[in-house]
Amino acid sequence: MNEQLLGKIEKLKDKREAVILAHNYQPGEIQDLADFTGDSLGLSIKASQTEAETIIFCGVRFMAETAAILSPEKTVLLPDKSAGCPLADMITAEQLRQLKKEHPDALVVCYVNSSAEVKAQSDYCCTSANAVEVVNSLPKDKRIIFIPDRHLGQFVAGRTGRDLILWPGYCHVHVVITEEDIKNAKAKYPDAIVMAHPECTEPVKELSDELLSTGQMLKFAAKSPAKRFIIATEIGIIHALKKQNPESEFYPASDRAICPNMKKITLDKIIGSLEDMQHKVTVPEKIRIRAKKSIDRMVEVLPSR
Ligand code: 13P
Ligand code: SF4
Repeated sequence: MNEQLLGKIEKLKDKREAVILAHNYQPGEIQDLADFTGDSLGLSIKASQTEAETIIFCGVRFMAETAAILSPEKTVLLPDKSAGCPLADMITAEQLRQLKKEHPDALVVCYVNSSAEVKAQSDYCCTSANAVEVVNSLPKDKRIIFIPDRHLGQFVAGRTGRDLILWPGYCHVHVVITEEDIKNAKAKYPDAIVMAHPECTEPVKELSDELLSTGQMLKFAAKSPAKRFIIATEIGIIHALKKQNPESEFYPASDRAICPNMKKITLDKIIGSLEDMQHKVTVPEKIRIRAKKSIDRMVEVLPSR
């Protein structure tokens, strides 16, 4: 059954001159058929470099929007138009305008998990892979507003020693991972290394050995002499970790860490997307130009790991 669907996708991809990009949290079968998989930063860079006419973005809306901002001449399709990111919706452009009024001299750094309108109102964009480097690149005498994820913000504040103005946003998937989950997993696998995403809560991060974006987790596992890892992030990454490191073992810190929006993409929806050129993700030109400035700065700053 899957073989038939995969054959159909290949034919349609040729017809549409399409490339399939998939985030590391996508269902395993989607990761396996994608031309490129990666974290938000890696996928943004791929989207800006590909020569394909059409990008099928297997991820959530802000990721497809970022691709559309970087490559307006391409057609960017999101196979399920309702695949959003609740964290990205936690601050509106209006709320950001208000916050800027309260701190008129501050620079604004927004996490890529945000809307195009919010990016257009920001000075710099970042992902979890380069948030520390982006903030470190800013003048020391400037105050910084960091939005919308407060857990990533606290991680960045700790690593940079900067007193950031935070917004109370959070990822509902990462905050379900508890301190207890980590303690239990460590008791069960005492020799395992704990890798956590910076969107996790502070007590979880304190108990972890490495705080990494999903792409950095893949790099770390490939280089590490360790063979057992506890993974505190969305469980989709475990498919990629196992595939790239078949000799190692990976244990999810919590089986409940599942992003329902990431799991909305299916093989059937990818076929529908390629057949009907649905659902086009576009950004009004005025917003796109402003948002691109902050995203260009994001893709220029390379992570140190
Ligand atoms: P990464 O950029 O680390 O892949 O994270 C994206 C995301 O949505 C985290 O929840
Ligand atoms: Fe958004 Fe969280 Fe899902 Fe990432 S895991 S896409 S931050 S809801």
